[in-house]
Amino acid sequence: MEKSITILAIESSCDDTSASIIKDRKILSNIVANQEVHEKYGGVVPELASRAHMQNIVPVVERAVKESGLALKDLDAIAYTKGPGLMGSLLVGSSFAQSMSYALDIPLIGVHHMQGHIMAHFIKDNETKNSPEFPFICLTVSGGHTQLVLVKSDMDMEILGETIDDAVGEAYDKTARFLGLPYPGGPVVDKLAKLGNPKFMQFTKPRTKGLNFSFSGLKSNIIQKIEKEEKTNPDFRSEYLNDICASVQHTIVSILISKIKDAIKQTGISRIAIAGGVSANSALRAELKKREQGEKGWDVYIPSFQYCTDNAGMIAITAHFQYLRGDFVERTEGAKARLENRI
Ligand code: KG4
Ligand code: ZN
Repeated sequence: MEKSITILAIESSCDDTSASIIKDRKILSNIVANQEVHEKYGGVVPELASRAHMQNIVPVVERAVKESGLALKDLDAIAYTKGPGLMGSLLVGSSFAQSMSYALDIPLIGVHHMQGHIMAHFIKDNETKNSPEFPFICLTVSGGHTQLVLVKSDMDMEILGETIDDAVGEAYDKTARFLGLPYPGGPVVDKLAKLGNPKFMQFTKPRTKGLNFSFSGLKSNIIQKIEKEEKTNPDFRSEYLNDICASVQHTIVSILISKIKDAIKQTGISRIAIAGGVSANSALRAELKKREQGEKGWDVYIPSFQYCTDNAGMIAITAHFQYLRGDFVERTEGAKARLENRI
């Protein structure tokens, strides 16, 4: 029998501090500490994020090790998110990982955050169905990214299209902020949308070339239409909050689905996965599930909730594959806020 591989992974690219231990492709622990400090600002404050990471990192790693039932001496490697993300946040995770790799004298693995979101599909757990076969198309939707990626293998991923301005998560968060809802807005809009009428308001869908996306015009259109209504009914926003959320959600999800359709047409591949924070969205999940039906149905892969939003489990599984191919970094490698546009 082959020797098993145990890795401790750390994710600190934005506002969540997370640590996970993976043994082969099975997650033994996945601890995520959310930073509530940003709520009152309606968005992530980079300076506060790095400070909170500094406070969280030791207890989060300690809990991950404890929950795994293993000891530090059982680890074969340390992994961390090398980027993209907020520089101050990334540095906390990368410096911590470097020191651990040095102290334990085991290899260090630097993981691309967006690759992590996609590779979450290869975690072995009881909730998800089997992992997708290569090649497949992944719609990667988060607070910082909106991409359609052709995933050819665990190390070969081609971006077919992406947003030319705001990310879809940003569209959710900014709309929520305008509606007076707390940060992060995506889950709140999603929840209220379930109670409203998706056809209540119509918003203009952006026209973008090929498989690219655009969300900044939609955000302005939403604000304009609501402000227009408020000229005759000052309580419009609060009176119709659920209907507004439902209409926004309906528009966003139909933009995403229509781009997936275009990607299928372009590539001939109908194996579809979703990843990133917005893949937790209930309407997106429901629309995709609908399209599994019938002879020409898509083969759809949806990650379990705990692996959608930022978490170290997704970094751990990516690191597992990197370990297998000997893809390690020097202890001096560190982090990069922007990584080359290739994943
Ligand atoms: O992947 P993620 O945790 O962090 C980034 O790498 O950006 O994604 C966070 C984003 C936020 O914009 C949040 O509002 C959005 O994911 N999000 C959702 C839902 N849950 C999280 N958006 C829509 N519906 C949801 N259920
Ligand atoms: Zn993310």
